[in-house]
Amino acid sequence: MKQRVVVVRRMDEDHLARLRQLFHVNYFDTLGRDNQQDYIRAMRSAHGLIGGKLVINREILDEAPHLKVISTISVGYDNLPLDELTRRGILLCNTPDVLTETTADTGFALIMSTARRVVELADLVKLGNWVGHIDKPLYGRDVHGKVLGIIGMGRIGAAVARRGALGFGMRVLYSNSSPKPALEKELGALRCDMDELLAQSDFVCITVPLTAETHHMIGAAAFLKMKPSSILINIARGKVVDEAALIAALNEGQLGGAGLDVFEEEPVSAESPLLQMPNVVALPHIGSATHETRAAMAKLAVENLILALQGKSPRNAVNEQVLLAK
Ligand code: DGY
Repeated sequence: MKQRVVVVRRMDEDHLARLRQLFHVNYFDTLGRDNQQDYIRAMRSAHGLIGGKLVINREILDEAPHLKVISTISVGYDNLPLDELTRRGILLCNTPDVLTETTADTGFALIMSTARRVVELADLVKLGNWVGHIDKPLYGRDVHGKVLGIIGMGRIGAAVARRGALGFGMRVLYSNSSPKPALEKELGALRCDMDELLAQSDFVCITVPLTAETHHMIGAAAFLKMKPSSILINIARGKVVDEAALIAALNEGQLGGAGLDVFEEEPVSAESPLLQMPNVVALPHIGSATHETRAAMAKLAVENLILALQGKSPRNAVNEQVLLAK
């Protein structure tokens, strides 16, 4: 008998067709209050779950006794209860690597647009307010030759650092739990403690995953250590930054600006003071949102799911101990 798979959020027809060949598929292209009960009913007989922005808690897991694999179409899995999944022997797969360069591009887009005031000045033109010479009050800041501080030198951090060092002649500082000697050799990057990174960097770019340790790791104390001209870039998770403290720091001129792809609550409230600040560039969590990369992520997640449900090793198992226990 075919195993059963629940697909959550819109998925391209070719991937669905591939899954339907192998499994009985329950497809929820959107998930909301109106179909929540149908989703839970589907989970009761599901062996696999695949999708993006998955919402899984103990109650849902209790309703899903046959669940063997969750394949998230994301690299991040802070929205999923990893320990609980591992305890229950449910394998979690994610989609690293294929989104690294695109997410780093997003980071650099934020660096460039905040420093050169791209959004603010493009709006000025569009609104018909370009009426004369652009003078000092509207000047931006250079990116090339500046100091780029990377918090969390994983795959995405390294890709941002490469863009900065090799493309823009930036000096790269980084803080990370372990040293990265190969990257230091390649880019001349220097590992330093957080205080030094904050004090010296013109751009502080956050790429750490959200965990209990990184929750609000950048807050009022950190902003006091940054230069008043420096710019905070967050392409990781909103909750790594204490957003209320960020708003206060921007209001008090402790920071030069912020480029944010992520927020504590998403979508960010239209009432957020951040959206009124000309020195803040806000994006709707588009780190990996290109046609090419989202297609590669979906393909990888489907492959991970199929391999795992066939009892083989998927490419990207987050809790490998579940595999080993089998
Ligand atoms: C991820 O993959 O975790 C990204 O944040 C989604 O865009």
